[in-house]
Amino acid sequence: MPPYRDVEAFDDRAGSYDQGWRGRLHHAISDRTAALATAAVASPQRVLDVGCGTGYLLRVLADHYPGAQELAGIDAAPNMIQTANRITDDERIRFATGVAEHLPFNDASMDLVVTSTSFDHWSDQGAGLAECARVLRPGGQLVLVDQFSRWLIPTLAVSRRGKARTRSRASSLLLGAGFDRPEWHNVYAVIINGAVAARSSNGVVQP
Ligand SMILES: C[S@@+](CC[C@H](N)C(=O)[O-])C[C@H]1O[C@@H](n2cnc3c(N)ncnc32)[C@H](O)[C@@H]1O
Repeated sequence: MPPYRDVEAFDDRAGSYDQGWRGRLHHAISDRTAALATAAVASPQRVLDVGCGTGYLLRVLADHYPGAQELAGIDAAPNMIQTANRITDDERIRFATGVAEHLPFNDASMDLVVTSTSFDHWSDQGAGLAECARVLRPGGQLVLVDQFSRWLIPTLAVSRRGKARTRSRASSLLLGAGFDRPEWHNVYAVIINGAVAARSSNGVVQP
């Protein structure tokens, strides 16, 4: 597996991550990610945020889902988790250090998995999506928000070689990981888009 690039930089930024224009941008994207999630799943019992950062999205979802039993967040950067724990006081929300490629949760244990502006940093995006499918119950929903745009195609030849940075590349990975065909939504500006996809109920990987 390629190295977990970018994680050290996030670890360094964790204490100030929610501040300034970048903090406001991530909150705005998370608010729209939450809107996609609540439109897709009315009342989940168990929710997972992969690459949760400081936990803003999970706190928003906790407010939307008063009946949820557990909202879990994992992130590869330990300082993000430390910050998330420090600023969260809802006892239904739990955070742990971990990576998308090896999710520390049982098979079919989640009703909803969300991930916002983290996927582009995953070391192995196919493995991470397969893990999301594994932990979702059949029919459970994934909301995947990140940079997906044809405008990013030039970056695939250089710094982001091999990444799924277009809707079509991400759709192929989702189908291969065991999701039904995704519905795409524009989330923010032109570049930030979101896929909503159900874990295939028959477990069959689409061609
Ligand atoms: C741009 S931040 C987004 C954080 C949060 N989701 C938000 O919307 O503000 C990307 C996050 O993904 C995390 N990350 C990077 N690679 C990861 C991986 N393989 N598994 C889990 N988290 C990862 C980083 O540590 C970082 O906190």
